[in-house]
Amino acid sequence: MSDAVLARVDLGALRHNVARVRAFAPGRAVYAAIKSDGYGHGALPVARALRHHVDGFAVARLEEALKLREGGMTGVPILLLSERLGAAAIESVIRHELEPLLYQPGQLQRLQAHGAAGLRVWVKIDSGMHRLGFPVTQAAEVLDELRAAPGLTLAGWVTHLACADDVHSPMTERQVRVFSDAVERLPGVKSIANSAGVVAWPGSHADMVRPGIMLYGASPLLDQSAQTLRLRPAMTLTTSVISIQRLEAGETVGYGATWQACAPATIAVAGIGYGDGYPRHAGSGTPVLVNGQRCELAGRVSMDMITIRIPDGMPVAVGDPVTLWGEGLPADEVARAAGTIAYELFCRLSARVRFSYADNEATLPGESISAHDR
Ligand SMILES: Cc1ncc(COP(=O)(O)O)c(C=O)c1O
Repeated sequence: MSDAVLARVDLGALRHNVARVRAFAPGRAVYAAIKSDGYGHGALPVARALRHHVDGFAVARLEEALKLREGGMTGVPILLLSERLGAAAIESVIRHELEPLLYQPGQLQRLQAHGAAGLRVWVKIDSGMHRLGFPVTQAAEVLDELRAAPGLTLAGWVTHLACADDVHSPMTERQVRVFSDAVERLPGVKSIANSAGVVAWPGSHADMVRPGIMLYGASPLLDQSAQTLRLRPAMTLTTSVISIQRLEAGETVGYGATWQACAPATIAVAGIGYGDGYPRHAGSGTPVLVNGQRCELAGRVSMDMITIRIPDGMPVAVGDPVTLWGEGLPADEVARAAGTIAYELFCRLSARVRFSYADNEATLPGESISAHDR
């Protein structure tokens, strides 16, 4: 157990980050994006921690919403961001009082055909991302259809930003304008902003914001760190040193012999690999903390192990703690080194990783669970 890969989730950090959302977008309703198992943090523990701090939750699929309802998240709005709403799904949506986001013709008619009385529905408008949503020109028409559908209540209008992470992109203001022109005179709540919109685009705050990544403490912007935005990392991923190698000059490490010592070198082998979800594309030079000190990967990531160059003179022993990201090492930095984004690092952790949940440094009784149990 002691050499297990552990993801420690700080529920207090999640709440701190919600407070940051409210500081950036005061007075706006907040639906927390907890899709993909709460961005890999555990949707249910995250939802329990945030329940009384947000106005609702947003997930992608019906199954995610059902897990939340079954886990006790009743009486709280759950927005379904991309559920196609087939016939079987509609029955569950009605029974569990979920809030579907309608994004294409036919969905509204299917809801009506099922006699979905009392359901609150949202409508997605495509303001330029061209992924999901009705064209802006159809907003009024959809509203007319909704008005003619007895029992369905319009909750509001949603659009999604394509380039909000780039504060220099002209796309965001264009999307905000296109969306606002289409819906500002229509009834219902208006929602545009993801995390990047929350922190960088006040014009996108509208009535309701839908932050995801910033809740987990990673930066939503390309050119600003989480620390600058005063976000706290919610997850710290750790393992330990399982072996130590002393290399002579010219010797190599790992598969493909991609890293070669140019002088005698100490290599710490740590018990984590792509089998745990650590990115295989993290190359030599990717930062990692050993005993809280910054070191770098040397050689390829394998399924169960990584190899770390220990700076000359730094003491290291088997059993020493290794931090892959989190407190002291921003996930954004590791993601950059691996050619990916923090979203993917979090979401890809495998069932082998054990999770523990703490609040203000105290582990909650009974909350130490593995990814399987979440
Ligand atoms: C429709 C929608 N809204 C909100 C979010 C949250 O985005 P972010 O995690 O960048 O804040 C997402 C995530 O992809 C989304 O698809």
